Amino acid sequence: MIIALNNKSNFTKEEFLEYKEKLNKIQKNANLILCPTNLYIGLVEQSNIGLGAQNVSKTSCGAYTGEISATQLKSMGVKYCIVGHSERRKYQHETDEEINQKVKLLLKEEIIPIICVGEEKEERETNRQNEVIAKELEEALKDLTIEEKKKVIIAYEPIWAIGTGLIPTNEEIEKIINLIKCHLPNTKVLYGGSANENNIEELRKISVIDGYLLGGISLKLEKLDIFLEKLEN
Ligand code: 13P
Repeated sequence: MIIALNNKSNFTKEEFLEYKEKLNKIQKNANLILCPTNLYIGLVEQSNIGLGAQNVSKTSCGAYTGEISATQLKSMGVKYCIVGHSERRKYQHETDEEINQKVKLLLKEEIIPIICVGEEKEERETNRQNEVIAKELEEALKDLTIEEKKKVIIAYEPIWAIGTGLIPTNEEIEKIINLIKCHLPNTKVLYGGSANENNIEELRKISVIDGYLLGGISLKLEKLDIFLEKLEN
């Protein structure tokens, strides 16, 4: 099981250092990936927790003030990078084309992109989730070789479930994950969106899930500990 922790834009430096120490003590079988705020990547030492970034520049190294390139992330030991999170699509107006550029730059540096896809509430209500997700996948993976496509991880994150406490039914999640695996048979698919220590016993019944992308609960280590305990036992 892959458990990716998306800290988003949380923690001061001191808070993060304390958090990181505590996280290192959580011994679990799951394959943990920590995606701290990009600024704190250099504060994470080598450990058995995978290091991920939350974003990468759509450009290579060069005169791009404020940007962090895939090459630079690699040089800091980053192995994974979230791409196309709905918060970036919404607040930074990230386009499918930019997401595709980022995926290509990451793969060139052998960083595994964790590509987020998911529908809006209104798209679910009008039963358009399949077409929305198929289009997001197609655009994000445009011009990639079959071998490259095998390397990416997809995170299904229904936008209306992120940080809301709302969650699709197991059947709904399973249908979307099967749809993604139909497009990408050898790809790992995570679920994200209000997954927590209270609903994990229900979620873990979905056999096609390869892991979770956690937001809110990634910040609360006591709850994360219970989540992992319930997931694994
Ligand atoms: P929550 O777990 O807070 O709903 O966030 C999910 C998410 O956006 C992870 O990327």
